[in-house]
Amino acid sequence: MKIHIRTYGCQMNERDSEALAALLVRAGHELVDNEPSADAIIVNTCSVRQKAEHKALGKLGRIVAAGRGQDGPVVGAVGCMVQRMGSDIFKKLPDLDFALGTGQLHSLPSVLEQATGRANHYLDTSLENVSESMVSMDGHVNSGVSAFVNILRGCNRRCTYCIVPEVRGPEQSRPALDIISESKALVEKGVKEITLLGQSVMSYGRTNDAWPLDHVSRESLVEPFPRLLEAMSSIEGLERIRFTSGHPSGCTAELVHAYEAFPAICDHLHLPLQSGSDRILEMMKRQYSTEDYRRVVTALREVRPQIALSTDIIVGFPTESESDFDATSDFMEEMTYDNSFIFKYSPRPNTAALKWGDDVSSEEKLRRNHELLEAQDARSQQINKKLVGLEMEILVEGVSRRNKKSDRSHVVL
Ligand code: 5AD
Ligand code: SF4
Repeated sequence: MKIHIRTYGCQMNERDSEALAALLVRAGHELVDNEPSADAIIVNTCSVRQKAEHKALGKLGRIVAAGRGQDGPVVGAVGCMVQRMGSDIFKKLPDLDFALGTGQLHSLPSVLEQATGRANHYLDTSLENVSESMVSMDGHVNSGVSAFVNILRGCNRRCTYCIVPEVRGPEQSRPALDIISESKALVEKGVKEITLLGQSVMSYGRTNDAWPLDHVSRESLVEPFPRLLEAMSSIEGLERIRFTSGHPSGCTAELVHAYEAFPAICDHLHLPLQSGSDRILEMMKRQYSTEDYRRVVTALREVRPQIALSTDIIVGFPTESESDFDATSDFMEEMTYDNSFIFKYSPRPNTAALKWGDDVSSEEKLRRNHELLEAQDARSQQINKKLVGLEMEILVEGVSRRNKKSDRSHVVL
């Protein structure tokens, strides 16, 4: 079969789509870049904000409508939105053939085999065998020089705005030996940079016994995530290690030491702040204050003064006042973020924050969003200007997919 996969959402989802692609190729299928030539179209969905769901539903609606009444492609939805909606997805999309939740992605090849293309409404949203599914979701296709490796699925935090714990289930860490052998295999194929992925990546190994790895820590580290970084940094030929997403509670003295001791860890940390107002942070149940956040950033900058810092911010969380917003804006300036992703609060089903309503108007959310983006642009420009004239090592991943003007002649190797 010729199969096209479309992905919405985060890097975890991108990685899932890649692992699905590898599974399908292993099962003898061919991947295609465009929809019209596909015998089957798979949409990997996201539900973190309502807008992400709208996009995926819109896309699926157009695909099934285009194929209706003819010998159209088999159409399947997978991932977070399926997990959230369950069988309701077929009420919205009666012509959809099948739907697989986040814990059942590995069964895609066998489900496809049985799918007839006549809306047989097969659904599986069980989260029971997530650790088993992680084993088969380790394949890669054409990784190039940079690859993602999953180390942890699910999330045990209870941030009051977030649907992820519901759609991805509780935290499950992968055995360290599997992570290392997947990484080594990637490096043998030419990968120079690996990004370790998890919703709250620094929680690795805290809730199930994926650890210990049977090596002695030369740096006397005992916490699982810093030890994993130590093991990764001993992989010969792996030049860059990244990880995402972080949480201030994971920025322990050992993690700071890892930044100091292992040069392969890139000069970057994505550390979602969400809000610079302590009152809002408390309502969000983020479990840190701005002072805690400031302390960990100061400690990291002591060992890596050049570290680039990026963040996620939510504007318009219930009851967010002008002064809460100003506190966020001021704190972002103080942290001098290199980059930030600003999201407008979106009420999600079954989340604790629903009880506070959604009292910041969409116009006001938009204004706050623009204001923070503009400030970030100015800050990024200033930071980038300081780089002019410096010589540094870069990793060329390939020709830009978006910039039509770029071609290979611009790249001098
Ligand atoms: N509304 C808006 N943004 C959200 N995020 C998570 N849940 C919501 C929500 N309900 C943002 C957070 C998170 C990022 C991945 O998405 O900033 O870090
Ligand atoms: Fe990723 Fe969360 Fe969206 Fe799922 S809901 S795809 S975990 S951002």
